[in-house]
Amino acid sequence: MKYIVGNYKMQLTTRETSALVKGVLHGLSLDDVLPEIILCPTFTALPDVQKLIKKTPVNLGAQNVASTGLGAHTGEVAAAQLVDVGCTHTLIGHSERRAAGESGDDVHEKILEALAAGLTPIICVGETATERAADQTNAVITRQITSALTDVAFPRKTPCLIAYEPVWAIGAASPATAAQISEAHSLIRHLLVGLGSVIDDIAVLYGGSVDASNALAILREQEVDGVLVGGASLKIHEFSAIIKAGTAVMTATHV
Ligand code: 13P
Repeated sequence: MKYIVGNYKMQLTTRETSALVKGVLHGLSLDDVLPEIILCPTFTALPDVQKLIKKTPVNLGAQNVASTGLGAHTGEVAAAQLVDVGCTHTLIGHSERRAAGESGDDVHEKILEALAAGLTPIICVGETATERAADQTNAVITRQITSALTDVAFPRKTPCLIAYEPVWAIGAASPATAAQISEAHSLIRHLLVGLGSVIDDIAVLYGGSVDASNALAILREQEVDGVLVGGASLKIHEFSAIIKAGTAVMTATHV
């Protein structure tokens, strides 16, 4: 299985989001072997998108979740509330949130909240340009994965989705190289196996400047189980082409 995840970030109004999702759905060929598609609009657009995707194979994800359950937490959105509007997934620990102060402990608590509510977390990790230049890439990934997932028990059949997003490749001119992606992904797999967590199924996605021109090559990589797409997910033709690349790879390899 390959995963294609669209992260709309904080870019669109509800009306613009609906138009985009309608366009993406229109381009889906239901006769194809489809990858697992997860759309993560802004909170305010979740109910509208839920209505649009209800009878389709597309899944709904949030971009963030509170680290606690329901309660007096102004401005937060609890995992149960995301489930209430139809979410099945949520991004956790995106680098844009970590840069705004989200800690490794926050990420860990958010994962526990998501799993307890029945959401599948998509956990984002990745190093900055400075960290890579200082040869800290493996140390950063190890720290982020370890603090996020040590002793976390995934319910049976809930996959552990990790998105490796090197910060320097987000919104950049080009994605990380196949060698850089493959090295990070195999480290992540190795770490997950050693953590003592209960995980049936591990999928490692790549994010950072994925678009229609490079998705096929990235998805073809053995170590890549999917892509997390920012900018190109806001363009119907780009995102539809990325989904088609997922279909092509799955069909070729009968994954
Ligand atoms: P871009 O695809 O715009 O580089 O963004 C990647 C990202 O941050 C997805 O979460």
